[in-house]
Amino acid sequence: HSTPSFLACHIFTLVLGSENACEKTSFMFLRQELPVRLANIMKEISLLPDNLLRTPSVQLVQSWYVQSLQEILDFKDKSSEDSGAIHSFTDTVIKIRNRHNDVIPTMAQGVIEYKESFGIDPVTSQNVQYFLDRFYMSRISIRMLLNQHSLLFGGKINPAHPKHIGSIDPSCNVVEVIRDGYESAKRLCDLYYMSSPELILEELNAKSPGQPMQVVYVPSHLYHMVFELFKNAMRATMEHNADRCIYPPIHVHITLGNEDLTVKMSDRGGGVPMRKIDRLFNYMYSTAPRPRVETSQATPLAGFGYGLPISRLYAQYFQGDLKLYSLEGYGTDAVIYIKALSTDSIERLPVYNKAAWKHYKANHEADDWCVPSSEPKDMTTFRSI
Ligand SMILES: Nc1ncnc2c1ncn2[C@@H]1O[C@H](COP(=O)(O)OP(=O)(O)OP(=O)(O)O)[C@@H](O)[C@H]1O
Ligand SMILES: [Mg+2]
Repeated sequence: HSTPSFLACHIFTLVLGSENACEKTSFMFLRQELPVRLANIMKEISLLPDNLLRTPSVQLVQSWYVQSLQEILDFKDKSSEDSGAIHSFTDTVIKIRNRHNDVIPTMAQGVIEYKESFGIDPVTSQNVQYFLDRFYMSRISIRMLLNQHSLLFGGKINPAHPKHIGSIDPSCNVVEVIRDGYESAKRLCDLYYMSSPELILEELNAKSPGQPMQVVYVPSHLYHMVFELFKNAMRATMEHNADRCIYPPIHVHITLGNEDLTVKMSDRGGGVPMRKIDRLFNYMYSTAPRPRVETSQATPLAGFGYGLPISRLYAQYFQGDLKLYSLEGYGTDAVIYIKALSTDSIERLPVYNKAAWKHYKANHEADDWCVPSSEPKDMTTFRSI
């Protein structure tokens, strides 16, 4: 099942016809597509370094995937006219979604276990980084499909958001979601630091001046990203300005152009040196300190160190991106790019093929740029020539 090509879905395809959303069509699509997505990423799990693959946590995650794949495959030969089978498929979809709820912390635990026993070397760190980006992206896409099906056909309508189609909001109010994210982060910050920076929000609708800023998007994804960025910006602001007790506000600029919806969040939390920026998106690096879940009752402002890398995946999932620009000593700009047009919002999915395989196998290649620190001392005579 791992060879058929993916159906990278358009955001409107995920709505499954919206108006005439039909459980049978969705059933027929998912029983074919889910095994492809599951099998592709299971292949990559099996290529992980043995010592990581054998940790109890990764074994557990792997067993969830095996079981879920099996459960979907059980529907392979069911007739599409069998309404009993279609109903029980929806139950299975909900069961699978719940089974996979804790994949991220469990996988993170596996990485910590591995690191504690075997340490990290640059090659493994690079392979694990490559894998986890693809693994979590695959998970986002699989959950998107599971969620759409269970929200549309699971029998419960969402009274709070009658206009939503599953998890998609055809007219997602960007400013509202950003304010929500700010308020939630502020509550945590107030609990932890007894104070919090203010929000200054500026919006520019360059595409349709005067109109509210709306896109076709998954509000929970946008919320996740801005909530994570606000938590980071607040923590940096509070820590950096602790001596003065004056906390500069967080500025958010939202711009809607013809192609992009851009959200820039600027803090004055002292920034990060350029050398370290890439590291902030690294799973192996940031899992170093164990999350202090036991010690704090409230959700801590900083935990696993997965805030940035996972948020970037949410942005990239529909062909956007998330970048960090820092002015060390001053502050940081975090920028989220989202496709303004729903026609550009197509899933970005990892595919298992030979090129992917090479990433797990080829290693220990010498760098093709010289390393400054390895310069021998007696080269000084050379330089003066
Ligand atoms: N705006 C910022 N200013 C300064 N440092 C930042 C900023 N954003 C992120 N960082 C640094 O990057 C690190 C990684 O951020 P990330 O959000 O990925 O993890 P975290 O905040 O440590 O944990 P969590 O998983 O709870 O988000 C942070 O610990 C912090 O040191
Ligand atoms: Mg964070």
